[in-house]
Amino acid sequence: MFFLDSSDPREITDIFAWGVVAGVTTNPLILAREAANVDLEERIRAVVAASRGPVSVELTSESEAEMLDEAQRYHAWAPARICIKVPFSEAGLRVTHALAGKGVPTNVTCLMSFNQAYLAALAGGTYVSIFSGRVRDMGYDVKPVIADTRDQLDREGLSAKIIIGSVRHFMDVNEALSAGAHIVTVPPPILRKMLHNPKTDETIREFNEAWRNRAK
Ligand code: E4P
Repeated sequence: MFFLDSSDPREITDIFAWGVVAGVTTNPLILAREAANVDLEERIRAVVAASRGPVSVELTSESEAEMLDEAQRYHAWAPARICIKVPFSEAGLRVTHALAGKGVPTNVTCLMSFNQAYLAALAGGTYVSIFSGRVRDMGYDVKPVIADTRDQLDREGLSAKIIIGSVRHFMDVNEALSAGAHIVTVPPPILRKMLHNPKTDETIREFNEAWRNRAK
């Protein structure tokens, strides 16, 4: 399954019309880059309107009490759609567990290892987000992290779903899916790159030209 890693309502509307995307993820860096001067609530409401499925909105406070307040505020914007993105930490686990108890979906984020993903799933995270590109930035192979996490979730019957984020290339997408990711959240430019293959383009051109130039 694909989610779109974007906060741009125009891109989201355009790509959702392809029928291949089932949710949206945002983070503070994406929002700061794409919508620095826009009111957060207004932007997230526009993202919700442009999409279907869960929309992840990330907490930026760091104490448990502030995180819970922030989560409540974001969730109220669209209770059936907003998924609270909780950065991984001790406070993050407490918040994930508390929100799970209230039936609020969570996406535990910034995960770089199997043990973090397992803790996030045990705490009741709806989604656990492993950061492919950033794991590789440290010089590690992300595939065993994804595969080990998937095996553990399946072995214990944990309901958390693995999202792979921090996607830098479309081969990251293919690798994540074959290693056992449930979902890959893909930035629009990378999803668009998947549309093109030179042999496909050449073949379509050849067919259409043959039809146009047929003997009449
Ligand atoms: C998605 O949920 C993540 O926040 C995002 O993919 C992170 O990407 P980055 O590592 O390119 O910042």
